[in-house]
Amino acid sequence: MKKNKFSKNWIIKQKRDVYVKQSKIEGYRSRAVYKLQEINEKFKILKNGIQLVDLGAAPGSWSQFVVKNFKNTKIVLIDLKEIEKINDTHQIVGDFTDENQKKNIMDYFDGKIDAVISDMAVNTTGNKSIDSIVTGELSVEALNFSTDILKKQGCFVSKIFMGPSFNEIITIAKKKFKQVNVFKPPASRKDSKESFIICKQLR
Ligand SMILES: C[S@@+](CC[C@H](N)C(=O)[O-])C[C@H]1O[C@@H](n2cnc3c(N)ncnc32)[C@H](O)[C@@H]1O
Repeated sequence: MKKNKFSKNWIIKQKRDVYVKQSKIEGYRSRAVYKLQEINEKFKILKNGIQLVDLGAAPGSWSQFVVKNFKNTKIVLIDLKEIEKINDTHQIVGDFTDENQKKNIMDYFDGKIDAVISDMAVNTTGNKSIDSIVTGELSVEALNFSTDILKKQGCFVSKIFMGPSFNEIITIAKKKFKQVNVFKPPASRKDSKESFIICKQLR
């Protein structure tokens, strides 16, 4: 599909989308917030006092949701892009795959944390196979990082794509966590190959 036709279709979809409308009413920066809300409704991953890392956080709706709905949270957000300030969070602009950035995140917390949530995705190239492979690599990296930084009872949530890397991620996750679920929240677009992996309790 030509790029301008792709963009036109995207704008039409956005205008019709109930989640886009709702996010504007509720003051969230992205419709993606409802994916996290639906994941949390089903898997109860968030709580008051939670310490978490939000990977690939821009424009910031996931962290907005956590700050708005839970008390005494300690949150680090990281993204390649600058994120408009969200009160009571620590924001890092940088590449999560950079070892120095992983160290920066770990140094910010006193010890191990409760959750790593990742909605990281590469900028879409238009080639769904390439996008899903590269995003799959990011998920594996996030998964490995989560096992270094999470408490034993901790939780890892990540976007994954139905594609070549799907089985590999599930296999690694099952080796590292006792509970592994895959869930496509209703807010995730039906024509997207995206799903989420929800992992609890390190082995
Ligand atoms: C779908 S958006 C996240 C939306 C976000 N959850 C929200 O609710 O606003 C995916 C983000 O992942 C970021 N990203 C991709 N690769 C990254 C990397 N290596 N390090 C940090 N962020 C990355 C992109 O810049 C993009 O902003």
